[in-house]
Amino acid sequence: MAVPVIDFSKINGDEREKTLSEIAKACEEWGFFQLVNHGIPLELLEKVKNLSSECYKTERAEAFKTSTPVKLLNDLLQKNSTEKLENVDWEDNFTLLDHSENEWPCNTSNFKETMVEYRGEVRKLASKMMEVIDENLGLPKGYIKKAFNEGMEDGEETAFFGTKVSHYPPCPHPELVNGLRAHTDAGGVVLLFQDDEYDGLQVLKDGEWIDVQPLPNAIVINTGDQIEVLSNGRYKSAWHRVLARENGNRRSIASFYNPSYKAAIGPPEMTAAAEEGSEKKYPKYVFGDYMDVYANQKFMPKEPRFLAVKTL
Ligand code: OGA
Ligand code: NI
Repeated sequence: MAVPVIDFSKINGDEREKTLSEIAKACEEWGFFQLVNHGIPLELLEKVKNLSSECYKTERAEAFKTSTPVKLLNDLLQKNSTEKLENVDWEDNFTLLDHSENEWPCNTSNFKETMVEYRGEVRKLASKMMEVIDENLGLPKGYIKKAFNEGMEDGEETAFFGTKVSHYPPCPHPELVNGLRAHTDAGGVVLLFQDDEYDGLQVLKDGEWIDVQPLPNAIVINTGDQIEVLSNGRYKSAWHRVLARENGNRRSIASFYNPSYKAAIGPPEMTAAAEEGSEKKYPKYVFGDYMDVYANQKFMPKEPRFLAVKTL
């Protein structure tokens, strides 16, 4: 059993219907799929890979040696304990956002220009993917994007778009710590450019952890809690985690397309999903309030978050 791989170039031709239904099936059954021929130039991906690794090596590797996970693991070993660390991730990361270009935590030359270009490409792909999801759910074209941008003035597009550059350095005791603890993603659509070679990302499918197999130059897509709500439970956000590994420094670059913090999110009135089950399975709330709940409950069961969030 492997995460579905979908040729996204086919969305524009004779095989459009087939491709749409492959994506629908992947959203329903997995919450995860890999796109090939997604339209992001391969030379750009190559630069993103090289510059991210260079940034890690020259600007971050040294600090990781004295980071919290390393200290906690050392403490554990000193105590001869074999109790797994459950409150920390064996991960180095930093996040890139619009409007914060001057404070980007990486000075590697050409990194900024390359990542601005990459983020532009990923954003386009995210928009296309959201339109595909609109269509598959029987929603009007642009529905999700509009929902994500709601609450903003002048029709300005201000949905949240962040890119998290992560490395999972080699870990001497991968049995004692997670690369990244199991969670579902809070937001909308996540577009992940993962390492060509080193694995570690797994998705929970029917109670079993399945590897998201490294596939060079593919973009892994997964849907978050807000798509679960907007689909009234048809597209469940999937649990996923990253294993720590003894060898290799796995790189992953995850771009999150989320609602603006002011956007009101709830099951739509007129979805095909809503018709089927008719009753709404989720409350309506403001995304920022959901994030307040998520901040404290990210690594905990999902359902209580929908009960805890203030409803509209
Ligand atoms: C995340 C995530 C996976 C990865 O940042 O939410 O799931 O492979 N990342 O880094
Ligand atoms: Ni995640």
